[in-house]
Amino acid sequence: MTMTAILEDTAAVLAPVRQHPSPDDRPPAHITVRGLYKQFQGSVIYENFDIDIPRGKFVSIFGPNGCGKSTLINLISGLIPLDSGEVLFDGKTLAETRIGYVFQNYREALFPWMTAFDNIAYALKLRGVPKAEAHEKVRKLVAHLGVKIDLTIYPYMMSGGQQQLVSIMRALIVDPEVLFLDEPFSALDYEMTLFMREQLQRIFEETGTTMVLVSHDLEEAVYLADYVLLLTRRPGNIAAYPKVEITRPRNDATLANPDFVTLKSNCLEIFQREVRRS
Ligand SMILES: Nc1ncnc2c1ncn2[C@@H]1O[C@H](COP(=O)(O)OP(=O)(O)O)[C@@H](O)[C@H]1O
Ligand SMILES: [Mg+2]
Repeated sequence: MTMTAILEDTAAVLAPVRQHPSPDDRPPAHITVRGLYKQFQGSVIYENFDIDIPRGKFVSIFGPNGCGKSTLINLISGLIPLDSGEVLFDGKTLAETRIGYVFQNYREALFPWMTAFDNIAYALKLRGVPKAEAHEKVRKLVAHLGVKIDLTIYPYMMSGGQQQLVSIMRALIVDPEVLFLDEPFSALDYEMTLFMREQLQRIFEETGTTMVLVSHDLEEAVYLADYVLLLTRRPGNIAAYPKVEITRPRNDATLANPDFVTLKSNCLEIFQREVRRS
């Protein structure tokens, strides 16, 4: 072995293991995050963090509690400021990009004094879209998505699932390039969660919008995703970023599909390794 080879070997051992920012098969990126740094009161959440989110794909983010999943999508979507680093959407800044965001807590997400219709149309109103045109846009979106819901009712008259559906439509009305969802179904009961997964999967297939979902439910994360972004403990890094090569639409049979089961258990192993790492 030459000295150069020995040095290179040593360097490889000493260098921190860094995953490529793109998922395993490296499709074209829609969102690129480079050199992200974020801390809260001295606690570093992200340090020199890079990630690519592929275009038109569904990415689920999964990782240990408090590792920075919500923080990551909040940073990318501009809800909280970066300390340093860069986020680009097709090379454009956030200000030049239309994004949608669906919050975890649907009870606080909708305006209680507005009907479902007015909640969905709100962003159009803000943009000064004339009433008739806004009406037509909402009608088209609802018809396109095949959502069966009475748009004249108020949030208090809706189930949790209906409120989240309205939240999703409200985010989609501006035809976003990217839709972010932070544990959107976590406050719903199991039956409604299963129903909403199907709705979201259908909406994803209908719109082809790039979607980034934070989930604390590994089965849900894998079931919905084209790629699962597994994060390490803080400071956050990519633990793995596997592709989910299972045809859509996915259904109950998917849950028993050997490829699904294997991938899910691999993800679980990585997750548990991260949780145990001190
Ligand atoms: N606004 C904030 N101020 C201070 N600490 C925060 C703030 N937001 C999040 N944190 C902390 O940052 C860490 C990551 O939070 P978060 O991204 O919400 O984690 P999760 O992966 O569970 O979504 C946690 O330790 C959390 O307490
Ligand atoms: Mg969170």
